[in-house]
Formats: sequence, C-alpha cells, structure tokens
Amino acid sequence: MSITKETELLGMKKASEAVAHTLKEMRNYAQPGMTTKHLDNYGAKILSDFGARSAPNLAYGFPGCTCISVNNEFCHGIPSNKRILKEGDLINIDVSAELDGFWSDNGNSFVLGEDINQHQKLIDASKQILHKAIFHIKGGVRISEIGQLIETEAKKRGFKVIKNLTGHGIGRSLHEEPREIANYKDRFNTTRFKKNCVVAIETFISTTSTFSETLNDGWTMVGNKGGFMAQHEHTIVVTDEKPMILTEMNGVWN
Ligand code: CO
Ligand code: CO
Repeated sequence: MSITKETELLGMKKASEAVAHTLKEMRNYAQPGMTTKHLDNYGAKILSDFGARSAPNLAYGFPGCTCISVNNEFCHGIPSNKRILKEGDLINIDVSAELDGFWSDNGNSFVLGEDINQHQKLIDASKQILHKAIFHIKGGVRISEIGQLIETEAKKRGFKVIKNLTGHGIGRSLHEEPREIANYKDRFNTTRFKKNCVVAIETFISTTSTFSETLNDGWTMVGNKGGFMAQHEHTIVVTDEKPMILTEMNGVWN
C-alpha cells in the first residue's frame, strides 16, 4: 500500500508493533525441550491480546498462527506437538498479522542456546545483509538493484540466495504490489520503489541450495540441495531518505 494519510501510518504502526513484539517475545521464550506448537500457542496469545489475527491463517488457511521452521526447513514450517526444539537448532520464526485492516510481517532466524552446530555465521550474514539492503532503499531505487546487492553480499560471505522466495508489498493485505522483491538481480523487473510505499524486505541466505521446494505437507519448504537458510525480515515505509522501519522493535539486529 501507499501511505496517503496519518491514520494509515498509525494503523501500520499498530499492526507492526503487534508482530514485532510477538516475534521478540517468542524468540526469548523458545527453549530446548519445547514443542513448536507450544511456542506457536504462546505467540498466538500475544497476537490476540493486541487484537491481531494471524496473517498466514487468515489469508491462506495456514494450519498454525506463526511459521516456525527448524534446521533444514527453510520456511512455512507448521507448528507441531511432535517437533521438539533442541540446543543448537537453527530456528526461523516468521510472524505476520492483520490488525484493524492493516497487515505487517517480520521474521528472523536464530540459534537456540549454544551454537554447537555453527550456524551463527549464516545468521550474522543474513542480519547484516538485511540492514545493508534496507538502508539502500529509497524512492526511485530499482527493486532489481536491491536484489543484486543482497546476492553480491551473500556471495562475498561465501553464501547463496534462494531465488524463488521474495520480499513483497504489504499493508492492506499480506502480499500486494510490488509482489516480488527478489534476492538476486531480476533483469526483467524494472519496477522502482516508490516513496510512501509499504514493503516487507526479507533475506533468504543459504549454505547450499538456490531454490526452495514444498514438502508433502503442502507448506514446509526445504532446499532443493538441502543445507540451511537464514531469513530476516522487516516491514518498512519507503521515503526519500532512510526508510521508516515499522517492525524495528523486534530487535532482530540487536
Ligand atoms: Co514476508
Ligand atoms: Co514473513
């Protein structure tokens, strides 16, 4: 969406506060021995206390409130009573929600407890690249230029990017124009970021794979060549200068 009046900005700020706070609380709450369903229920309660509704459930009928993906799962992992978190797991939590007609989206990957499986380098790369990409965005910048930046930065650090997962416009629905903010230089995409436009910028940095594939459960995505992936995501408003980062309080850069 494009922000045209103060009430719209306020609406986006409220929806963003709900998802950012929920993500932060879930990350802090996650512990070895906990099931992903228990963690999801915890997040669901926080979202509902804000009066917010799960975006993936509302928009696509996702069987959970938030997406929790563990280790080789890249994204859209279904919260489950059978999935028990362990020390050193690479966890991705993605929280998106609707509040009073406004939609916001954020996510992050992190290691649970001690980094016994050495995932931190991948996570740090994803965090740093998201930061760099976001502060490169302003009105008039080509979307493909940001994709190129993300891929170049990933390669510099010895990683790859996932080509079929993208950031997206957001605001009045979960996914809207511009529909694909890729992590590589898509030369067919000549679209530019517009001032006042609300977009969700997300990284998909991987160790081995360049595409993601859906498992038989119809939701969970894994790599076409396996390996691990880290994602960090913020919902922002594009301006003529530095973007306004609506989900900044999720603390994923801290
Ligand atoms: Co998103
Ligand atoms: Co998301």
